[in-house]
Amino acid sequence: VNTDGAIAVVTGGAEGIGRAIADHLLRSGASVVLADLDADRVHATVERLGFSQRSLAFVGDVSDEETLRRLLKETTDRFGPIDVFAANAGTGGLGGIHVLDEEWALAWNVNLMAHVRAVRLLIEGWLERGRGYFVATASAAGLLTQLDAAPYVVSKHAAVAFAEWVAITYGDRGVGVSCLCPMGVDTKMYHDAQQSVGAPGARAIAASGPILSADEVGRAVVEAITEERFLVLPHPEVAEYLRRKTNDYDRWLAGMRRLQARVK
Ligand SMILES: NC(=O)c1ccc[n+]([C@@H]2O[C@H](COP(=O)([O-])OP(=O)(O)OC[C@H]3O[C@@H](n4cnc5c(N)ncnc54)[C@H](O)[C@@H]3O)[C@@H](O)[C@H]2O)c1
Repeated sequence: VNTDGAIAVVTGGAEGIGRAIADHLLRSGASVVLADLDADRVHATVERLGFSQRSLAFVGDVSDEETLRRLLKETTDRFGPIDVFAANAGTGGLGGIHVLDEEWALAWNVNLMAHVRAVRLLIEGWLERGRGYFVATASAAGLLTQLDAAPYVVSKHAAVAFAEWVAITYGDRGVGVSCLCPMGVDTKMYHDAQQSVGAPGARAIAASGPILSADEVGRAVVEAITEERFLVLPHPEVAEYLRRKTNDYDRWLAGMRRLQARVK
């Protein structure tokens, strides 16, 4: 997809990876609506990015269907039909099976159902026009795993599965999909995880590979949209880890247990 002149929405756009995706889309010539829960920050970000004619801040919870409907309407009213929707807002958090049901529900709702609801609202228009592009921010945790982060891992696997499913179901009718699966990225979410005292999950992220800047990741996403490539792996080693996992599952599980013992 040519992003020059495209109309895009990026959720979780106030900071981190979402802000970087929005920045690269704007620099490539797209018009972008940045949607976020954090009103002050999303307005400040739109101002700071400096494309006032081609950008707009939207405040709301993008896992809520009515809010999503409003987001799509405001985008279309202002700029025209949406070409690219980047479902990037996500919720992190560490913990295993003792995480409260409310936190499992939050992870499921934001990391998966927000994607399902967005595609559900967009798909009819995309099929009528014969084009549309969906970007899912999942995680390397959605292809591999992440220690001490059960709701996160499960909901990110679901996000990858949903993105694959959309690509297969609608790919022959003009709908493209990219799925972003990074390891550690230098954002607020990453620093929050690092600060939870004694969390092996946070240490495991740091031990698994380099921490990339959000800017590098945003650039990789816009490249993948342009090339219409499904898997976006700003950490290329994730492809090798995935091969090892699928080549020999038991060996991969044993390796993950060794990593767990190391970071305890
Ligand atoms: N940082 C990493 O190491 C890393 C690695 C892999 C994947 N990811 C994924 O990247 C995405 C972006 O994370 P980030 O690292 O940039 O985090 P971040 O905390 O810097 O930014 C996330 C943004 O999403 C917003 N948000 C959260 N829930 C929302 C909701 N329901 N509605 C609207 N906005 C909402 C937050 O207000 C925040 O501005 C997430 O899906 C995350 O899981 C991050």
